[in-house]
Amino acid sequence: MCGIMGYKGNKNAVEVCFNGLKKLEYRGYDSWGIAAKDKEIEVFKKIGKISGTSIKDIVPKDFRIAISHTRWATHGGVTEQNTHPHISNNRRIAAVHNGIIENFQELRKSLREKGYTFHSETDTEIIPILIEDYMKQYDFPEAVRKTLLDLEGSFAVVIIDKDFDGMIAARKDSPLVLGIGENEYFIASDIPAFLEHTKKVIFLDDNEMAILNKELEIRGVQNNNQVQKQITIIEWSPEQAMKGDFEHFMLKEIYEQPAALKRAAAESDEKLSKIAEEINKGFGTFFVACGTAYHAGLTSSYIFSKIAKKHVNLSIASEFPSYENFITEKTLMIPISQSGETADVLGAVKSAKKKKAKICSVINAAGSTLDRLSDERLYIKAGPEIGVASTKAYTSQVAVLMLLAYAAIDKLDYAKILLGEASKSIKDMLEDKEIEKIKRIAEAIKDAKSIFTIGRDINYSTAMEAALKIKEISYIHAEGFAGGELKHGTIALIEQGTPVIVFSANDHVKKETISNAMEVKARGGLIIGIAPEDNDIFDYWIKVPDFPEISPIVNIVPAQLLAYYLAVFRGNNPDKPRNLAKSVTVK
Ligand code: AGP
Repeated sequence: MCGIMGYKGNKNAVEVCFNGLKKLEYRGYDSWGIAAKDKEIEVFKKIGKISGTSIKDIVPKDFRIAISHTRWATHGGVTEQNTHPHISNNRRIAAVHNGIIENFQELRKSLREKGYTFHSETDTEIIPILIEDYMKQYDFPEAVRKTLLDLEGSFAVVIIDKDFDGMIAARKDSPLVLGIGENEYFIASDIPAFLEHTKKVIFLDDNEMAILNKELEIRGVQNNNQVQKQITIIEWSPEQAMKGDFEHFMLKEIYEQPAALKRAAAESDEKLSKIAEEINKGFGTFFVACGTAYHAGLTSSYIFSKIAKKHVNLSIASEFPSYENFITEKTLMIPISQSGETADVLGAVKSAKKKKAKICSVINAAGSTLDRLSDERLYIKAGPEIGVASTKAYTSQVAVLMLLAYAAIDKLDYAKILLGEASKSIKDMLEDKEIEKIKRIAEAIKDAKSIFTIGRDINYSTAMEAALKIKEISYIHAEGFAGGELKHGTIALIEQGTPVIVFSANDHVKKETISNAMEVKARGGLIIGIAPEDNDIFDYWIKVPDFPEISPIVNIVPAQLLAYYLAVFRGNNPDKPRNLAKSVTVK
């Protein structure tokens, strides 16, 4: 889940790549590097994050062609040797790569037997060396194509040759997009990397390679045939991909939720009704997703059961293979993904498509691989989400799926009123006095060893999502579970002062939820109640709107803020949590 970028044009290529990598850092921040070419190839590598370094630290010279990489280590530790770009033994070829080459060991073995030397532990290093070997017979583009045909696994690559006035890029199961400027080309893992330069993009599909020389040529890797591609104009503004006055993207994205919900609610009735009809007539609907998107699926499976009286199967994408036997041409699969690039989700979709299932995706990133694999899609319109911890995408995913559930019973107007209420309520909750209270609670529990979150019925998934937010950015062990499960084991972990966040609404399980809080209190737990009303059992109370139908959307917001301030008060960067990256493009 690295970020890669390349540039060819009249601007300072190193500077363009340097600034572009900074915008891709959410994809991996263990180390970074740039290779630029003039008569020779010059390589610069550095351990750690690129943000916080200045362009003056690196190559002073002015280049026209450069490739670059920010790393999320999968193969080999965080060392300079393992940092990309990797170059060939004859220092003629340099390459950057995002993905995993599954057959790299056997390829490396045969290249070693031919006398080539390897300097890193990475899978990627075989790419420039294999090209070097093929160039004994073929020119650069053909040597690249031959190399790509030998690779098994996933890859997005950008490659330069010191004697070739351009660069070559290709992808298979990893995202790659081209930016078309005035006499200049950009290639990157994601659009924000070059959005300040151009909004004209070409999305590369799997097994396509782009040869960016004097002209742009796109060819099929298997058959080497020319491919005609469409240019898409991106709606997002560069500002949307900036932090603005916020200290972190995560906080900005939490504050963007009221507006994002309004955009989600503006989805066309016709489109929603058409997909709701598919669900009504479908023979088995599957929500498939990972992480936070999976929690949006969990929440929405409750909403479909309650509102649309429709059972929806729910699967963690990486576990989907166990359900394949149930997939037929009558199945409707609804993958949920912010990035549209999560490898496990794409894998599940591809296997369902083999069984002729219909794919209707709920996506944020238009043009993503999932978007292009889908028969239908609903965009959640949350805007670019840069913070690794997903926030506005979650509430917008639940909002769009809630609209679908109400569309299935012809009550779309009411659903849109609910979302209007949710948007307004969140705006009210983001007022200073509530924030100050949440900061005080974060200060009080920031040294906890563990935090537990409980909820019942539709707020069980809220508890799960809250625990994930706390875990991924504060690094405090947090566990979410259904309130009813408490007495079946986990209550053994409750000690004096153990923080327990209780999500409650004025609904049919309120009493049981409060008694769960009492059971925890009896063991010395410190109760943080997120509920419409205060209760004697709460040590801390955060008020949420008394509106059970929208509780799955509004109740998570205080937990997002609590996780954010826990991370900040513990000195962590909430935007770039350790060991994580924004989209998980490897299995
Ligand atoms: C959530 O905060 C995490 N970043 C992660 O769990 C994420 O939700 C998951 O990787 C799914 O990503 P997607 O929505 O882009 O598919």
